Amino acid sequence: MYRSTNPYRPIRTEVLEVLVETPTIKTLRLKPAEPIAFETGQFIELTVPGAGEAPFTPSSQPAEQEIMEVSVMRVGRVTERIHRLRQGDEVGLRGPFGQGYPLADFRDQELLVVGGGCGFAPLRSLMYELFRRSGEFKKLLFRGGCKNPQDFLYRREIEGWADRGDLDMVLTVDQGNGDWKGRVGMVTTILDNLAMEPARGIAVVCGPPVMMKYATRKLLELGFQAERIYLSMEKNMSCGIGKCGHCRIGTYYACKDGPVFRYDRISGVPNLWD
Ligand SMILES: Cc1cc2nc3c(=O)[nH]c(=O)nc-3n(C[C@H](O)[C@H](O)[C@H](O)COP(=O)(O)OP(=O)(O)OC[C@H]3O[C@@H](n4cnc5c(N)ncnc54)[C@H](O)[C@@H]3O)c2cc1C
Ligand code: FES
Repeated sequence: MYRSTNPYRPIRTEVLEVLVETPTIKTLRLKPAEPIAFETGQFIELTVPGAGEAPFTPSSQPAEQEIMEVSVMRVGRVTERIHRLRQGDEVGLRGPFGQGYPLADFRDQELLVVGGGCGFAPLRSLMYELFRRSGEFKKLLFRGGCKNPQDFLYRREIEGWADRGDLDMVLTVDQGNGDWKGRVGMVTTILDNLAMEPARGIAVVCGPPVMMKYATRKLLELGFQAERIYLSMEKNMSCGIGKCGHCRIGTYYACKDGPVFRYDRISGVPNLWD
């Protein structure tokens, strides 16, 4: 099948369905005119005609190349227009771009995935892939947190993972309500007493910058090695392909060298979490 080699040229993409996830997040089911193979953790650029372009990380199963899902939080101009899209509308899609999770390095390891807020979008794609490869890892732990139950992205689906025999999962919210049966407190409060050996384990962290900052600090305190902590860094982007310099993190470009980074590679960057 013909595949565009011009990274600036968006592929015509149909909106198959729009799912309302939370008061501020919608998931689009997209059908690109050409199948798109991506690695979990890579990102795409979505163009809304007349509004502009913005980067998003697919939240769907990487093995599914015909249909891609992206979950979009409404924060500004482009995402506002994305939230107004309806079934049958057309958008443009470029990518995938950047470096995803190094799944080969996760093999035979004890693996901890820590997520918060909108970070569940990229992590859902990662978890689908980890579940598909279930048995390749010594242990798989998931620790997820959110501000409140209403804002818990994919809540019912993620709660359903509790029934899996291959996953050790704890969920928390900062503020509970009558409907919430899980833990209450920041995500850092559910990182104690992990059934794994931190010094030899691998941790993946994805969420809002403040959550990643404190979760990473806590993981280091627990004994995780900086070179075995992987972070998904969302910096402002433009070209998406290492040309414009908008997404610089120290000597790296988040779009080309990331968005997934090993913490030891970027830990010395001033104002890393801004
Ligand atoms: C690699 C990567 C993956 C991402 N994946 C997702 C995802 O799966 N789901 C999701 O909801 N969001 C994701 N984002 C964030 C998303 O790209 C921004 O929310 C979006 O670009 C904002 O565009 P806007 O025009 O609506 O906002 P604007 O009107 O431009 O600005 C509103 C706010 O968003 C911030 N912002 C603007 N542009 C960007 C940008 N390019 N990147 C980050 N923050 C920005 C601004 O600082 C401002 O605070 C990702 C960002 C990156 C870099
Ligand atoms: S977005 Fe242009 S260099 Fe990264």
